[in-house]
Amino acid sequence: MNTDFLVIGSGAAGLSFALKASKAGHVTLVTKGELNECNTNYAQGGICSVTYYPDTFEKHIEDTLICGAGKCDRAAVERVVKLAPQAAKDLVEWGVNFDKTEDGRFDLHREGGHSEHRILHHNDLTGAEIERALIVEVKKNENITVLDHHFAIDLLTQHHLGEIVTRHTRGLACFGAYILNTATNQIITVISKFTVVAAGGCGNIYQTTTNPVVATGDGIAMCHRAKAITKNMQFIQFHPTALYHPGEKPSFLITEAMRGYGAVLKLQNGEEFMQKYHPMKSLAPRDVVARSIDHELKIRGEEFVYLDVRHMPAEETKHHFPNIYEKCKSIGIDITKDYIPVCPAAHYCCGGVTVNENGESSIRRLYVLGESSCTGLHGANRLASNSLSEAFVYSDLAAKHAIEHMDRAHLQEGIEEWNFDGTAAPEEMVLIMQERKELQSIMSNYVGIVRSNLRLDRAFKRLAVIWQETEELYNRTRPCQELCELRNMITVAYLTIRQARECKESVGLHYTIDYPPVKQN
Ligand code: FAD
Ligand code: SIN
Repeated sequence: MNTDFLVIGSGAAGLSFALKASKAGHVTLVTKGELNECNTNYAQGGICSVTYYPDTFEKHIEDTLICGAGKCDRAAVERVVKLAPQAAKDLVEWGVNFDKTEDGRFDLHREGGHSEHRILHHNDLTGAEIERALIVEVKKNENITVLDHHFAIDLLTQHHLGEIVTRHTRGLACFGAYILNTATNQIITVISKFTVVAAGGCGNIYQTTTNPVVATGDGIAMCHRAKAITKNMQFIQFHPTALYHPGEKPSFLITEAMRGYGAVLKLQNGEEFMQKYHPMKSLAPRDVVARSIDHELKIRGEEFVYLDVRHMPAEETKHHFPNIYEKCKSIGIDITKDYIPVCPAAHYCCGGVTVNENGESSIRRLYVLGESSCTGLHGANRLASNSLSEAFVYSDLAAKHAIEHMDRAHLQEGIEEWNFDGTAAPEEMVLIMQERKELQSIMSNYVGIVRSNLRLDRAFKRLAVIWQETEELYNRTRPCQELCELRNMITVAYLTIRQARECKESVGLHYTIDYPPVKQN
């Protein structure tokens, strides 16, 4: 199958790129589940954009840089902050309904690390509203072909023409991807002028995550295999306040906007504790809050702390957070009267595939957007609600760049179809599921919120065993989604551990007891 633009992923980044690129050519958009099954759909807080005085670009830039603990790329920060208002306008044009105040202005929320109210939202269901509106636009666009339940296995490069490629090969280019139709188990070869990896994050490498099951790091792993460069994978963000409800997957998020609204963190004995850790208390940057909770839980041998919003006006709470109110009610918690039990959960991957100012990776004709990418915006710790802005800003820049270079791109010939020789139907699923559980346990216990050299070394050794067993299984098995996901999760876990071992300091989200913190932000 040939196409101008192959887009992998149907979240904020993939859908918005597809809509923009469709003005210049044909887009084939593949996604491994239903169209709206993605991290974007679960976003609650909203999207950052400087909108009204007294907020300014300078303040948003400063908040992002402080949160990123000295590791942000200032140019990327300025780019996203300054282009975010246009991204918000695009969303409104596509039909996204952001909440407004009675006088017609955007109703702005505030979250941890923000010095101003600057988060546009649709009550506490912003991501679902964005997905709804963008999917409507994509479905009516005749230049976009959607292939749902199609799983991207591997990117095509000169390797598939029989050449030896490395991360230093000059002129390394992407020609499309092998895509598994998960309904028929057929593998199709999609040849494209431009390929876009917008495959989201990797929360499922941990036991507890706010990410839906599709977030298995496929995009980052397939780019790594294709010899793209990755960075900052050690900076995995844990959200401090996932609802403590053992067994539920994914963990339900209690948005940080609730703390921006006035909710306060408390211990199980009802005492406040965040004043011990940061002057902004419950609204301190996310890494500080998650680490503080983790510390309190470890010294007390407890599994959750409380979020207390009972002192706020009940009707207002229900009005701002209807989704959270209903969810908690469904498990017997009335948030206007009861404490909400919360604990940290893996939430966001601040690292990813290194890209330039146009979202291009080190491989030509390959753009990486959204959570799979590392633009330099987040540094060592992402400021809340900056990721949606980043996804939309960079999708726009990438689409413009690709369209500009359309006439120089071509459809590569000579790529072989997938070779099934020597492989058989998958063996028992238990082989895959058990390895997956072991991987998640290693990552949660050794590569979590607080790390050490010993734990990282141990994780590396244990992972090597899982890697070897899985590669052997993969080499004798017809690809299926579960096995490919496991392989991708192992790759992403490997990159996380390797880059964590290389990071000889405690900074932002990478906190190790072997190196004293450089600074507490
Ligand atoms: P996603 O939206 O995750 O989309 C990835 C897509 O790729 C999915 O469609 C998936 O099915 C597809 N895919 C993956 N692998 C493959 C494959 N192998 N083949 C085919 N398709 C594949 N950020 C904010 O800015 N504000 C918020 O309020 C906010 N709240 C959040 C709340 C929750 C609970 C979570 C989990 C995240 C939140 N985030 C928030 C982070 C933000 O939602 C994500 O970073 C962002 O939506 C990522 O968009 P994306 O397009 O890169 O990826
Ligand atoms: C939240 O609503 O707390 C999540 C916001 C984010 O992850 O950016």
